[in-house]
Amino acid sequence: MIDSPVKIIETADAAQAHVRERAAKSVLVPTMGALHRGHLELIRVAREHAGKDGEVAVSIFVNPLQFEPGSDFGKYPRPEPMDEKFCADAGVNLLFRPRELYFDDRSVYVEETRLSAGLCGAARPGHFRGVCTVVAKLFNLLAPDAAVFGEKDYQQLAIIRRMVRDLNFLIEIIGVLTVREEDGLALSSRNQYLDAEERAAAPMLYQAMLRAKEMAAGGENSVSKLIDAAKNVIALAKGARIDYISIVDAENLQPLEKLRPNALIALAVFIGKTRLIDNLRLT
Ligand code: PAJ
Repeated sequence: MIDSPVKIIETADAAQAHVRERAAKSVLVPTMGALHRGHLELIRVAREHAGKDGEVAVSIFVNPLQFEPGSDFGKYPRPEPMDEKFCADAGVNLLFRPRELYFDDRSVYVEETRLSAGLCGAARPGHFRGVCTVVAKLFNLLAPDAAVFGEKDYQQLAIIRRMVRDLNFLIEIIGVLTVREEDGLALSSRNQYLDAEERAAAPMLYQAMLRAKEMAAGGENSVSKLIDAAKNVIALAKGARIDYISIVDAENLQPLEKLRPNALIALAVFIGKTRLIDNLRLT
């Protein structure tokens, strides 16, 4: 373990003992690790909200419950010493890195049933149930005053807001804009799966969304035309296979037929074997 001022907690019991003794305001950034500049921006916003005397807590837990069978749970990157240093350098106060969070005979889950129906929820059955369950557990274990999530996972953010509203968690949810590479690719822990050729093709996701946004700005309001245009851009990316491209209402995530204010384009595209997601507001 490196010498750092980050307090590291590795069990649920120790987390709850810490919370009982804590007086300061606490802001949580839940992650699965392999931390990058996108996570760093969440940590920066968390510090803004916590204040200099408050606690910024980061959790790192590769949550088995949100990986559907046959997905990348086994190979998901887990660079523990690097993440620990990342947190120390970023001024994080608490790193919660549990080895396990579930009871073998668990029988209670948290499931959002409306916003989860489309987009990634349709493509990845059980995924958001896993996300909601682990985030609810993290909220109960660490009792933060606020928690920060990225718009990169727009549907996840909307579902967490709904969970907090519907289940009356006393936690403020803060959304953060997507952090991108210079070429437009949204930062993601999964980008490291891409080989050089795939990495070169990956910015086409952003280009495709920009194309739709340009057309929308030019007055095109047919959603099917906007989606076709985005698909044509993706088709230029070598090795790309579209999982979905949808234009939805940013509030309720329902698919739109005609463009209206508050429209969001969201997509999931396989580049080789790697599934990347992204989204952009069109209006
Ligand atoms: P993970 O993919 O590690 O992401 C952790 C947080 O970082 C999420 O809120 C995500 O939206 C945000 N994030 C990732 N890339 C970003 C980027 N380029 N710009 C801005 N924010 C970005 O999302 C999860 O983990 C898990 O599902 C979790 C919520 C931790 C539950 O297990």
